[in-house]
Amino acid sequence: PIVGVIVVAAGSGTRLGAARPKAFAPLGSRTILARSLDPIFSMQREAQVVVVAPAELVDEARSIVTDAAGPAAQYASVVAGGATRQQSVARGLDALGDSVRIVLVHDAARALTPTSVFDAVVTGVAQTAAGIVPGVPVTDTIKRVDDDEVVVETVDRAELRAVQTPQAFPRAALAAAYADAEREHTDDAALFAAAGNTVSIVEGDQLSFKITTPWDLRRAEALESSADS
Ligand code: C5P
Repeated sequence: PIVGVIVVAAGSGTRLGAARPKAFAPLGSRTILARSLDPIFSMQREAQVVVVAPAELVDEARSIVTDAAGPAAQYASVVAGGATRQQSVARGLDALGDSVRIVLVHDAARALTPTSVFDAVVTGVAQTAAGIVPGVPVTDTIKRVDDDEVVVETVDRAELRAVQTPQAFPRAALAAAYADAEREHTDDAALFAAAGNTVSIVEGDQLSFKITTPWDLRRAEALESSADS
């Protein structure tokens, strides 16, 4: 495949307070990881899928991936993650086959992300060779504060976007940016931009919210049960 998708699922999910690492916590009758793979195996283009899982759950992740992949299982694999998200992505990059030219990095925790967003970021990279990241307008008013929580200023939210995943990049430029990275960045787009590359935003989707807290999980479960009925 020309497209590779790295699904990072190696976090512990402390804020969710579940008994298991977050991607392996239940979402309805399945796991967050299983649900997150649905849109990926429905993409327009066939993709190589690499799931990055906690080392002790690699076997369980393999059976989830095999179930989700169906005939695409030949292009799907699981590798063990690292101590940080950035290290986990790096492990995934190392597992991509030679044919891959466009890499998508996706949080398993954004389990309800629509397939259309995956297809849109692939198209964006194919057309521009820039990094392409889904983003949504910020609806809250954002304040900058000092160390004492005193408000310094109100930031103009018209120029802000809250960014999501999947984030898509030309493979060679992303690999070079990872090889040169000198510190931890909060997302792949920041790491890619720090190496001098351009990143553009495409329209994200409210369904791509990251399941972080118990409240987020309840929201995801409510959306899933209304989708089923
Ligand atoms: O903790 P947070 O929800 O921000 O993590 C975002 C994504 O990165 C999650 O899907 C999580 O599983 C993944 N992650 C990882 N390896 C880590 C930390 C987080 O794969 N060491």
